[in-house]
Amino acid sequence: MGKDRHFLDQLLSRMTLEEKVGQLSLYSADVKLAGAETVNPALTFKAPESRFDDIRAGRVTGVFNGYGEDYVRSLQKIAVEQSRLGIPLIFGADVIHGFRTAFPVPLAEAASFEPELAERVAETAAAEAAAEGLHWTFAPGADLCRDARWGRVVESYGEDVLVASRFAAARVRGFQGGDLSDPRRLMATVKHFAAYGAAEAGLDYNTAEISRTTLIDHYLPPYRAAVDAGAGAVMTAFNDVDGVPASANRELLTGLLRDRWGFEGFVVSDYNSDFETVAHGLADSPREAARLCFLAGLDMCMQSGLYADHLPGLVASGEVEEGAVDRAVLRVLRAKQALGLFENPYRGLGRAFDPAPARALAREAARRCQVLLKNADGVLPLKAGMRVALIGPFAREHQHLNGAWAIFAANGLSVNLEEGFLAALGPDALVVEPGCGIAEPIAGGLDDAAAAARSADVVLLALGEGQHMSGESRSRSDIGLPPAQLDLARAVKQAGKPVVTLLRTGRPLAIPELAELSDALLVTWFLGAETGAAVADVVLGRAAPSGRLPMSFPRRVGQAPIYYARKPTGRPPQHPPGPFTARYIDVEPTPLYPFGYGLGYGRVEYGPTQVSVAELGWSETLSVSCELVETAGAAIEEVVQLYIRDVAASRIRPVRELKDFRKVAIAGGARVVVAFELQTADLRFAGEDGALIVEPGAFDVWVAPHAQAGVPARFVLLDRHGAEPPGVG
Ligand code: GLC
Repeated sequence: MGKDRHFLDQLLSRMTLEEKVGQLSLYSADVKLAGAETVNPALTFKAPESRFDDIRAGRVTGVFNGYGEDYVRSLQKIAVEQSRLGIPLIFGADVIHGFRTAFPVPLAEAASFEPELAERVAETAAAEAAAEGLHWTFAPGADLCRDARWGRVVESYGEDVLVASRFAAARVRGFQGGDLSDPRRLMATVKHFAAYGAAEAGLDYNTAEISRTTLIDHYLPPYRAAVDAGAGAVMTAFNDVDGVPASANRELLTGLLRDRWGFEGFVVSDYNSDFETVAHGLADSPREAARLCFLAGLDMCMQSGLYADHLPGLVASGEVEEGAVDRAVLRVLRAKQALGLFENPYRGLGRAFDPAPARALAREAARRCQVLLKNADGVLPLKAGMRVALIGPFAREHQHLNGAWAIFAANGLSVNLEEGFLAALGPDALVVEPGCGIAEPIAGGLDDAAAAARSADVVLLALGEGQHMSGESRSRSDIGLPPAQLDLARAVKQAGKPVVTLLRTGRPLAIPELAELSDALLVTWFLGAETGAAVADVVLGRAAPSGRLPMSFPRRVGQAPIYYARKPTGRPPQHPPGPFTARYIDVEPTPLYPFGYGLGYGRVEYGPTQVSVAELGWSETLSVSCELVETAGAAIEEVVQLYIRDVAASRIRPVRELKDFRKVAIAGGARVVVAFELQTADLRFAGEDGALIVEPGAFDVWVAPHAQAGVPARFVLLDRHGAEPPGVG
């Protein structure tokens, strides 16, 4: 029944206009989201029970963020047995980094530099969510982000276009697999289309003020990668792009997404983002908002009810053709068909799910996302037999392990830092003191913490951001450590013991003083259910840190946005900064820690970058290699990075662009040669008319451990006729 194309055409032919519009209307399970009505007072909130009538009348295509045997089965039963045509509902949710088992946040996952790990995590999260009746996830977020003030950087894959592209595609593959009707899979949604992460000043929902070539070269490719990986849906962004809100932006939703990229799934708004085109000042009424969004290519409304209220009238007036409504409805019905919902509306429900493998993967992923930024005198891994003082607001809590968008996580099952270290060290070797709150002092906390530090051989200082300090609508104007925490760090340092800082965060933080007073600095992000076990694994040497920074850490918030792939300027920064160059008079222009940086427990020396030829023919492949030597006698997993610079081009190119990366295991003392390949296609950029072009000429190329390291080799790309372009010298 549900498999063939004619079935949908026949179904469509039987639908009334109201039923068609119902397939384009998605509503939240917990309809009254706190605060939402303050944003859009005109919103029509209805009690969940009233949805039953809407479902019976065919006015609802699906529900989001509701799940579980009873909830899903009860609503689906109404849809398939009591509505006129029995069209099944689709159940969506924000399965962003896990479902019941919380995995590391996306920014942490990017730090692993292992897209294949992200694919495994997405597959596991899908199986867990599908077992509770979900069909559709609103992930991956593919928003490139270069400004750490933006709260949703925690949901991004950081500042680099290649990293974001590879992770977004990997997660689509992990969620969807090869057959969406598999009851252990979810349909993926790439979001937020487009350039949501370019919010000016890092202020969430703000305009994305970027040039067209920056949009094409840096912000669009991650969405494209997810679309090319087969994402079933695209979600529009809250922001405007070049003056037109994304939900009503025809150039984006139709010209680019459908006509040029060939996207065949459906486009869903973000929460009321269609209605918000009125607040943006694009539409002068909700009816006009409905018209503009539908004609731009928005298929489905999330929560606003805009199409339910206005699309029938727009069709009656001839402003919208019913044929266009039919095409949008077919895109939604095809998704439900691909999910197998017509054959089995209760797909996945009741399937037993064993959490043990998910917990094991959560621990493995949490280990591989941690980034070691400093390790003076090899204080890590800790020596056996040391007495440890675990101090800080994150030493003994469960609430702040998971980070933003872990709304379904079974928190009671998670392992916090105290539990992780207690299991590893035993009660006699561990003393725990909060010392202060996340943002406020505790009476006597500093004294108790200092005493604990004096009683121990080493201090583990658990500091950073609380769960509520990043995420949606959580932009920060100051990305430093809360003063109460800095006071604690200073007090503990006075005890004269080695200090290992465990930095919990959903973004790069400006922490120069904390880095200075820490003997070791380990970025632990938000690692999810197995936080305590995974951090103990790395700190105690049961696993080595292998993460690298997916985003630059600034010295001060005033440097934001700061990123490695910056343009050279006519007066490039100098070291030390010189007059009349790109510099600040009060801080180094470089980041505190650059993109791609991180340490292991071994040490790797890079030899010179070698190129297979000095002159590369237009259709030839260049091999770029480097010999690496581990010199500390300890095994290491090194993220080897390949960067290029197009030295001179018709549109100026960044000082560096990452073109490949690979995590390589190197035994202690071993020598390995790592080689990459570059083709002409890898050298493309947006030309004057926006089309991707390649220009012959000189290129620098690095095989390096991070974005500020290495000495480049040079090659010349010959033109199509094998000649050196003029001016190459
Ligand atoms: C939110 C977010 C979006 C999420 C949606 C549904 O406002 O912007 O990422 O998927 O609403 O919860």
